Amino acid sequence: MTSYKELGLVNTRKMFAKAVKGGYAIPAFNFNTMEQMQAIVQAAVETKSPVIMQVSKGARKYANPTILRYMAQGAVEYAKELGCKKPQIVLHLDHGDSFETCKSCIDSGFSSVMIDGSSLPYADNVKLTKKVVAYAHKYDVTVEAELGVLAGVEDEVASEVSHYTKPEEVIDFVTKTGCDSLAISIGTSHGAYKFKPEQCTRDPKTGKLVPPPLAFDVLKAIEKKLPGFPIVLHGSSSVPQDEVDTINKFGGKLPDAVGIPESQLRKAAKSAVCKINIDSDSRLAMTAAIRQHFAEHPDHFDPRQYLTPARDNMKKMYIHKIMKVLGSNEKL
Ligand code: G3H
Ligand code: 13P
Ligand code: ZN
Repeated sequence: MTSYKELGLVNTRKMFAKAVKGGYAIPAFNFNTMEQMQAIVQAAVETKSPVIMQVSKGARKYANPTILRYMAQGAVEYAKELGCKKPQIVLHLDHGDSFETCKSCIDSGFSSVMIDGSSLPYADNVKLTKKVVAYAHKYDVTVEAELGVLAGVEDEVASEVSHYTKPEEVIDFVTKTGCDSLAISIGTSHGAYKFKPEQCTRDPKTGKLVPPPLAFDVLKAIEKKLPGFPIVLHGSSSVPQDEVDTINKFGGKLPDAVGIPESQLRKAAKSAVCKINIDSDSRLAMTAAIRQHFAEHPDHFDPRQYLTPARDNMKKMYIHKIMKVLGSNEKL
């Protein structure tokens, strides 16, 4: 058993309480590679922001669970080396699908886990979440749960339609499970295609899709039921159109990729939403930089040549999110 405290990581409890009070959100960035980890740490240190580094089941499979855990430990040391005396870094399991996966993460040094029982019948979601909370809290690890289903693919959990979180269920769920934060469904979804063209209108000038607004009425109703309780938004990439255009210009094919407008995320961050999950935007920033680099330097084959601009572009994106969307800068 390795406690996250030995690794210099923190859980989300104080971080979320401060964020809810302060009207900002903590960035939760997914990582699978060293370059993503470096860019996240550099961005968090330069903006003096707390940060959640999250790992999905897919990331654990891709990079190896032990390596990712050491990378998070490395992230803490790297942040110190960059001049941050007391980094606030959370290592979080994203979309944990079973008690066993959550336990394995807790036992190996994660400071926060998500148990995603959102596809289960309500009573089963309560039961599973409660079991994870009971184990996690023994080690002061915080737990994110989910109620409501996001459209798209949640790791292995597929759903064709989005089922907004029912505000009338949240008090019962939070009380029965003892979870520390709650992911809700208000119209966001995973990936770079968050809405079908028929759900959007089109900007007559650019021809780009304009997505429908999030269900802020549902968020408001949830906040009213659970005043001050930490709310989480998944599927919150904005799918920057300049990155999509770069990808398409240099040989990619991402027609009609569309995300959540940053103005809506800013509005959410000012409310009880205190954790905003971003993964796809990092993938787009990395891919755009690499495609452009290959197109402009067909003779390059040293990964450092194309991964350096990829890392720099991700860092730029992370800094932008922290400072212009979530407002977590200067909050250490
Ligand atoms: O919620 C999904 C995250 O973006 C993780 O995606 O399962 O492909 O690693 P992944
Ligand atoms: P995006 O696909 O919008 O980046 O969402 C990421 C996420 O919710 C990770 O859990
Ligand atoms: Zn998610």
